[in-house]
Amino acid sequence: MRDSLRDLRLGASGPQPPPVARRRGATAAARADRYALYQIAVQDPEGDVVRVRRMYERLHGRTPRTLREDFCGAAAFASAWVAAHRENRAWGVDLDPEPLAWGRAHNVAKLRPEQAARLRLLQGDVRTARTPRVDVLAAFNFSFFLFKERRELLGYFRRCHAALARDGLFVLDAYGGPEAMEKRKERRRCEGFTYVWEQARFDPITHDASCYIHFEFRDGSRLPRVFGYHWRLWTLPELRDLLAEAGFSSSTVYWEGTESGTNEPNGIFRPRACAEEDPAWIAYLAAKK
Ligand SMILES: C[S@@+](CC[C@H](N)C(=O)[O-])C[C@H]1O[C@@H](n2cnc3c(N)ncnc32)[C@H](O)[C@@H]1O
Repeated sequence: MRDSLRDLRLGASGPQPPPVARRRGATAAARADRYALYQIAVQDPEGDVVRVRRMYERLHGRTPRTLREDFCGAAAFASAWVAAHRENRAWGVDLDPEPLAWGRAHNVAKLRPEQAARLRLLQGDVRTARTPRVDVLAAFNFSFFLFKERRELLGYFRRCHAALARDGLFVLDAYGGPEAMEKRKERRRCEGFTYVWEQARFDPITHDASCYIHFEFRDGSRLPRVFGYHWRLWTLPELRDLLAEAGFSSSTVYWEGTESGTNEPNGIFRPRACAEEDPAWIAYLAAKK
């Protein structure tokens, strides 16, 4: 798979979280902070801020200022959003108090007080959370794949439509391709550890998939299955049909380009109506209210 669902949309090039706290004598795995490693390995919040801003500006000719980050976890994206401009405001929504608390202690704590004041983190279900209407609603790292039933995903997309301002944009990501339907493990070296993406199960009838993230360290210690995902591998045409049914007036697929010569993905996503076959891809979808 393209660099292990990798660098997904990432590149992980922006500022890195603070070093993991050290305890003498313990293994690297025992000293590690799984949320810090996750952010280093699979997120690119500053890059996402720029990508999403450009998508919005292309459609509306103005800069978006308000964001809701669904499934925000530690709210890396929402934090980067408020840091990017003094008029930006953001709301982050997640069910789980643990990543929210980690995000407050690490991502929000790094913001200036004036920036943090423009960010609200809410513990709740994205299907029922109430927030002011926003310019951009983002759901990243495939989290909505957790909604396996068509009716359930449609209900969520309808809520997203309602949560957006009149000229709002819903931005989500997806992955796929034949390699996404295989059992496989992919490793990628990061600074001080190895990120492992495991596709442990795929059901071709239901498209149910189980995937895990593991971290491995040079001293031989491991953090197995630190994050697990049991979701449905939705296809782009299914998602676009559902977005239209939920009321979005149009949706655009942002497809990743490749380096000439190597044909490796280059991290640059452009609107495309059709694409060449690809064994493993990730893409953004931008749905206009
Ligand atoms: C794959 S993580 C995504 C984290 C982050 N958005 C990212 O881009 O890496 C999925 C997150 O979704 C949250 N979650 C799952 N179901 C949810 C729901 N119904 N409402 C709100 N959050 C939910 C989990 O608690 C978890 O933090």
